[in-house]
Amino acid sequence: MKLSSLPRRRYTPHATPIQKLERLSQHLGGPQIWIKRDDLTGLAGGGNKTRKLEFLVADALAQGADTLITVGAVQSNHCRLTLAAAAHEGLKCRLVLEQRVPGSYRKTASGNNFLFDLLGAETITVVDGGSDLSGAMQAEADQVKALGRKGYVIPGGGSNALGAMGYVVCAREIMAQSLDMGVAFDEIVVASGSAGTHAGLLIGFTAANAGVPLTGVNVRRPRAEQEGNVHKLGVEAAAFAGLPAPSRESVVALDQWVGPGYSLPTDEMVEAVRLFAQLEGVLLDPVYTGKAAAGLIGLARRGHFRPGANVLFVHTGGAPSLFAYQDVLASA
Ligand SMILES: Cc1ncc(COP(=O)(O)O)c(C=O)c1O
Repeated sequence: MKLSSLPRRRYTPHATPIQKLERLSQHLGGPQIWIKRDDLTGLAGGGNKTRKLEFLVADALAQGADTLITVGAVQSNHCRLTLAAAAHEGLKCRLVLEQRVPGSYRKTASGNNFLFDLLGAETITVVDGGSDLSGAMQAEADQVKALGRKGYVIPGGGSNALGAMGYVVCAREIMAQSLDMGVAFDEIVVASGSAGTHAGLLIGFTAANAGVPLTGVNVRRPRAEQEGNVHKLGVEAAAFAGLPAPSRESVVALDQWVGPGYSLPTDEMVEAVRLFAQLEGVLLDPVYTGKAAAGLIGLARRGHFRPGANVLFVHTGGAPSLFAYQDVLASA
């Protein structure tokens, strides 16, 4: 199967930029840090889910669906972007929100939660952490069907084989930019959550024999579990695309920066969010990219990268959730 022949909607009319973070690199006195600005993809507020939704929504439309149904945490960027894609395509959208932290849902919360309402969610169903999420989404699909409509279920984070194609495309984009810029990246660092971004990038780099190590920084799970998840999806998505499967050894998903748990703040995250904002004018988010950047900074300080190495940080978005974390991030 050729990626170029897969049905795809286009939500970002340009490659996202790669920029050098001069002041952060200088501050750390370590490697040359570059950033892939996937926070600047299209749809409301941008972020990594936009790339996955290009393929997933095209499939929903091809199947004649009129309603997207998906799931995420209470400040889910994926839910925000699925709603935005639905609005753009004239589809309805229903959300199932999982309270991964008990009691974390607040109807009036700011950040992405406010945007769920603004972007016109048809229904929002809140369930406890660890609930049967597929069952909850199927129940929504059944309700939609009973209304004479057709639902299309998108798994959490858009992380199935089709969604991961968005990041196979991104890997190709990075390689083309690296060639154009004349900058060879020695290592790439990315947040690793529902695994589609990590798996997609790995497939893209493996297929091109790029020889660049990809380091995932976990936001939720212990290392072995997350590496297993990324590898499983990587094998499945590579088979779907007719590309070589990534080896188990090529999957690295570090768990030292998760802290007390998913979405729970850490001092390293707060430092990373402030450093990117104050040295580079780049907004990270507290749940994903703040922890991934904390990992990048931690690795630099430990001497993990050779001096002068070119390290690319993939910024996967998420800044709208900053507004739900003002109490943690404001300086006073
Ligand atoms: C801003 C942001 N970065 C990174 C991730 C992790 O990406 P993935 O779920 O594909 O592993 C997410 C997932 O929700 C996200 O919202």
